[in-house]
Amino acid sequence: MKIITGNPGTGKHTVAGILAKKLGLELVDINQVAISKGIAKKGKQALDVDVKKLKKILDKKTSKNTLLVGHLAPYVVSKNKVDVVVVLRRSPYSLERIYKKREYSKQKSIENLGSEILGITYYDTIKNIGRKKTFQFDTTNKSIADTVKRIESLFVKGKTREDNVDWLKIVSKKRDLKRFFPY
Ligand SMILES: Nc1ncnc2c1ncn2[C@@H]1O[C@H](COP(=O)(O)OP(=O)(O)O)[C@@H](O)[C@H]1O
Ligand SMILES: [Mg+2]
Repeated sequence: MKIITGNPGTGKHTVAGILAKKLGLELVDINQVAISKGIAKKGKQALDVDVKKLKKILDKKTSKNTLLVGHLAPYVVSKNKVDVVVVLRRSPYSLERIYKKREYSKQKSIENLGSEILGITYYDTIKNIGRKKTFQFDTTNKSIADTVKRIESLFVKGKTREDNVDWLKIVSKKRDLKRFFPY
């Protein structure tokens, strides 16, 4: 299967929908599966998901032709079933605006911004699925068409140049560490 992951607001569902249609892939949305199977509870901040159960269900539900989408992807797939993973990244300054529009709570926003700044999803994808299969793309100030084109090329050719991302450096330079890590 192919995977598109990344923190909320990085652009996963937008590009996954387009790519699934374009390439004839079967789109599987991790959150939707979790909710429909009754293994996700609406927690205080986000979905509380039983990761073990979800992994079993997704093992059955996915195939070679699957495009799996969701921020939980690195934690709920069997490594040997994965061909390639795209981790979408976006500047915390841009994400902050998206979270405001989505009316995320202060805590949910801070958690996701901190995770993006530290690159946790990218790091965990490399750790759990492997360096060679992992490619990150920065969607900040990029058009949707451009991002779709880059991912399509990766999916077709099997490799590509990924982006360098170091939000921590940018945030510290701007002296915004306190703003994003208030606790
Ligand atoms: N290059 C891009 N790629 C994907 N989405 C983008 C891009 N630029 C802007 N967006 C916008 O980003 C917002 C968040 O996208 P969405 O697909 O909902 O993210 P996610 O599924 O990761 O939460 C949407 O309003 C989308 O139109
Ligand atoms: Mg989404």
